[in-house]
Amino acid sequence: MLHQAGEYILPTKKCKGTVGWRSPSNIALIKYWGKRPPQLPMNPSVSFTLQNAFTETVITYQYDPKFEDLEMNYSFEGNQHNAFSGRIQNYLDGLISYLPIIDKLKLKITSKNSFPHSAGIASSASAFSSLALCLLDIEKAIHGITAHEDLILQNASFLARLGSGSACRSVYGGFVLWGHTPDVANSSDEYAVDLSTQVHPTFKDLLDVILIVDNREKSVPSSAGHKLMEDNPYSEIRFEQAKKNTSKLLAVLKEGDINEFISIVEFEALSLHAMMLTSFPGYFLMHPGSLEIIKRIRSYRNSTRLPVGFTLDAGPNIHLLFPRQYQQEVDEFIQSDLIGFCKDRRYISDIIGNGPERIYHG
Ligand code: PMV
Repeated sequence: MLHQAGEYILPTKKCKGTVGWRSPSNIALIKYWGKRPPQLPMNPSVSFTLQNAFTETVITYQYDPKFEDLEMNYSFEGNQHNAFSGRIQNYLDGLISYLPIIDKLKLKITSKNSFPHSAGIASSASAFSSLALCLLDIEKAIHGITAHEDLILQNASFLARLGSGSACRSVYGGFVLWGHTPDVANSSDEYAVDLSTQVHPTFKDLLDVILIVDNREKSVPSSAGHKLMEDNPYSEIRFEQAKKNTSKLLAVLKEGDINEFISIVEFEALSLHAMMLTSFPGYFLMHPGSLEIIKRIRSYRNSTRLPVGFTLDAGPNIHLLFPRQYQQEVDEFIQSDLIGFCKDRRYISDIIGNGPERIYHG
């Protein structure tokens, strides 16, 4: 990232060390669903970064300009994991034009999540964001230079995006935008930008209770879902709708209208799942319990007038969103009305987080 291939000279000095980053997951409010090469979004998306759901990645590296190929050993929570390992190997191999040092490295990568593996929470955003941040620390150490923190985060977002689109939003805390929109001057399809200066205090203490309706791996992975958008007859309308919803949400985030926020965010979540229903072949990831929870949230909101809304990822679990000041009432509502639809009565409470943290440098 510090240099582009072509004008690039490999450092001649061998070097080794250990780097580590903790990076959180994020939940999209405006959904990214549909992409074009190289992993660029068909519409902008907006998310907030979580605090408690994170991945920690630690990499011990050795650099030698005489090495001929990247050598990598990957373990997840103490075990070798072939599927993850293959995906990471492919990702690293694909970075050569951005990180020319990559094939001169021996890497021992260890990774673990704060949330249980079987919680039904996607970990690719936190995994690739922490990995990208580690790679940039390695690059900095090998070159013996320091870059400006803003540029490092932008580069990390760019690299994380190539692993998993939504990962590019996880390198920042708070509210984050990925994708070009005329509403935000420095926005880009290639990396995410931090929206924190453009958010009304109303939204800064939102809580996110993730109701675990099903913790199994989903039947259609996101990569296949994005691909199915290519032939979805409603895709163009969806991309336009998401662009309009982005503009609306950005305005609402500035103004602080929580009811309008809920209305846009729910519309986005249901539109995402509508795209799954109208793909060919059509499929659905919501469960009967997801629908029942949605119905109950809406009827609770109508009767109490409390600003409680929901969103969903590409899966059956419901993210219940509400301002912290209503925590007690909403906890009671969860216990009395919603918990019966959660697998093993499980839910995970989270808040808006501050973004990644360096956990190791040596
Ligand atoms: O980053 P991916 O390829 O796993 O896709 C993420 C898609 C959604 O989570 C459904 C939406 C989003 O914007 O995060």
